[in-house]
Amino acid sequence: MKKQKSMTLTIPKHIAIILDGNGRWAKKRHLPRTYGHQVGVENIRKITIAASDLGVKALSVYAFSTENWKRPQAEVDFLMKLPEEFEKKFKDDFNEKDVKVMFSGRKTHLSPKNLEILERITKNTKDKKGIILNICFDYGSQIEITESVKIIAQDILDKKIKPEDIEPKHIEQNLYTKDLPKLDMLIRPSGEVRLSNFLLWQAAYAELYFCKTYWPAFSKKDLEKAIIDFNKRDRRYGGLKKK
Ligand code: IPE
Ligand code: IPE
Ligand code: MG
Repeated sequence: MKKQKSMTLTIPKHIAIILDGNGRWAKKRHLPRTYGHQVGVENIRKITIAASDLGVKALSVYAFSTENWKRPQAEVDFLMKLPEEFEKKFKDDFNEKDVKVMFSGRKTHLSPKNLEILERITKNTKDKKGIILNICFDYGSQIEITESVKIIAQDILDKKIKPEDIEPKHIEQNLYTKDLPKLDMLIRPSGEVRLSNFLLWQAAYAELYFCKTYWPAFSKKDLEKAIIDFNKRDRRYGGLKKK
């Protein structure tokens, strides 16, 4: 990556990407939407390796939302086959790059076969020391926060905590991302400018970056552009501009 004049670039520790635009990417090429999903999954490998080479510590990718079940059954069925494909195709490259894979999302709606695959991938990579790839699959932020609130409600019933003592950290410690570095930057390719129920809590002070490229075409260069843009931001966290 070309350095900005004399500036040394700060690499965000934790980047999240909404993998959007697979369908439109395929449509533009007169191909079925599912082909877009296939190329989109391939791109997870490419961008994970690029992020790892750039020094990113954690990469969260939004691959299937709790709302995506509303899509036509044939498309949902296709998307539900992707974990299997992911496991088959990425093993060697990810091994080489020491990628630790984890999954965020509901475990109540996935097939036993998919749950087994997710568990196996997690178990097989748990001791890896490289980049953490957090795949958000059947993920929805509102459900994630709701589940955290339920745990706290039970803790109140069990007299482990009093309502007046609840702090943001108590919500946070039940989120899927509790062990990840704080989210620094959230990227949404494809031209849509919304979060679509992704990391709503975690994005409180993340820098948001939107670009037009569809996810299957999103390249290492696009990631670098986002990081350069990140370096131009003044992160004040409610305070005042740095001198
Ligand atoms: C993102 O691409 C993949 C999933 C949501 C599973 P889309 O399928 O949303 O593609 P567009 O937005 O229709 O182009
Ligand atoms: C968000 O994309 C979900 C994923 C990329 C997994 P969508 O395509 O589902 O979002 P909307 O419908 O444009 O908000
Ligand atoms: Mg979309």
